[in-house]
Amino acid sequence: MGKKEDVRVMFNRIAHRYDYLNHFLSFGIDKLWRKKLRRRLAKENPQTILDVATGTADLAIELARLNPSRIVGVDIAETMLQVGEKKVLKKKLSHTIELKQADSENLPFEDNTFDAATISYGVRNFETPLKGLKEIHRTLKPEGTILILEFGMPDKFPVKHAYSFYFNFILPLWGKLFSGSYESYKYLPESVKTFPYGKDFTNLLETAGFKNAKATRISQGITYLYEAEKQSFPPSTRNPAQIVK
Ligand SMILES: C[S@@+](CC[C@H](N)C(=O)[O-])C[C@H]1O[C@@H](n2cnc3c(N)ncnc32)[C@H](O)[C@@H]1O
Repeated sequence: MGKKEDVRVMFNRIAHRYDYLNHFLSFGIDKLWRKKLRRRLAKENPQTILDVATGTADLAIELARLNPSRIVGVDIAETMLQVGEKKVLKKKLSHTIELKQADSENLPFEDNTFDAATISYGVRNFETPLKGLKEIHRTLKPEGTILILEFGMPDKFPVKHAYSFYFNFILPLWGKLFSGSYESYKYLPESVKTFPYGKDFTNLLETAGFKNAKATRISQGITYLYEAEKQSFPPSTRNPAQIVK
């Protein structure tokens, strides 16, 4: 099995306990991080939003507060989406939020469809992050914004040491106790340790075609909020003077 299938199976397995564990293991701070992304996105006033790796739709639901006309949440794990669908129905948001099973690396949307795209704690799980980011870039309108929340690693004493102990030892044990899956919560620190953050990740965004990529360190570097834009013209036509010549 490839990484994509492993990840799909793993999230399907923990889907019914995912929200509870997310909030419990992060002491509820994950809600504040999603709010921060929503406040940043409010400045762009997007009408159409693509939430990639939407999982159980927590971010999509948070973004509905911006009153866009359409939010599409996509994920490869169908059980995560089923949990999300129930929440969307309960919150009476079905007129705005549509959830769809789809792969970030092969999105079923036309070029230049969305005003904004978001990913919270999903990009690290992609089989090929660069491919996923390029694909999202394709579906964004020119000058569209991408906002991404992803874990980083705190680098200053004492948060660095406390976090490392919690993340590597306590979290997998709590995960096993509450989700029955030690492997899933052992995967979390392992995937974070090997994933680029800060400047390394903004470089990846620019390699995928985005411009003005910026990283904001949050909660001592435990998490990062990344933002970037799609260029208004393809690079080859950016300088009209060159074309005339
Ligand atoms: C840690 S969860 C994050 C869910 C949600 N965004 C949140 O903030 O709680 C990661 C999600 O990424 C999804 N995922 C991983 N690879 C994906 C891919 N290639 N395409 C779409 N979703 C993917 C998983 O199925 C999982 O639901």
